[in-house]
Amino acid sequence: MQFHTERLLLREYTLDDFDAVHAFASDRRIAEFVEWGPNTAADTRRFLEACSFAQSQPQRTKFTLALTVPNGDPIGSVSLSLVGGKGELGYVVAADCWGRGYATEASQAMLVFGVQDLSLAEITATCRPENVASARVLEKIGMSRIGLRKADKLIRGQWRDSLVFSASAESMPWSSGTP
Ligand SMILES: CC(C)(COP(=O)(O)OP(=O)(O)OC[C@H]1O[C@@H](n2cnc3c(N)ncnc32)[C@H](O)[C@@H]1OP(=O)(O)O)[C@@H](O)C(=O)NCCC(=O)NCCS
Repeated sequence: MQFHTERLLLREYTLDDFDAVHAFASDRRIAEFVEWGPNTAADTRRFLEACSFAQSQPQRTKFTLALTVPNGDPIGSVSLSLVGGKGELGYVVAADCWGRGYATEASQAMLVFGVQDLSLAEITATCRPENVASARVLEKIGMSRIGLRKADKLIRGQWRDSLVFSASAESMPWSSGTP
């Protein structure tokens, strides 16, 4: 499975991506607002093994793709997890590549995939209220803020709030509205 966007190739991970993934996933800048990371080598290996396992499942429920510039190594990930009939979107971009619109471009493609190819009626995403860049990505791809969950994420020993964003098939301007 792979997608081309304007500047990116979104493709499946392989175990050979270890060095590139570990370079961005072991950087503490990416871990401030998320439960995982900064990765140890074992964490990165487990991540790539989990991606491989998900790829092999006949009824796949997790789609984690590498963000690459064509012919380049991964510079981030975008994921869609199917939970209770809905999709949950997630993403990370190498800190040295922030602010170039890569998370927006990749997330937009995953949203289209979820609605058009997987026929999901709703896709949600959460981020910490302080994660301004992430909230902005979700706004830019047309998701709406629908709530705030108090103290729902345990991040390095601290319970943190989550903003909840949602997109329905009908709300997407590019969708036919029939999930
Ligand atoms: C969140 C993350 C994926 C964004 O990646 P990115 O490729 O830099 O995102 P984009 O460039 O597509 O868009 C970022 C937007 O946030 C804005 N932004 C970033 N920091 C900001 C700040 N401190 N204040 C206001 N706006 C900010 C950017 O200007 C841009 O908006 P614009 O296009 O309107 O100018 C990246 O910061 C990241 O990987 N963070 C660590 C992991 C993480 O938090 N993942 C999300 C979990 S919820």
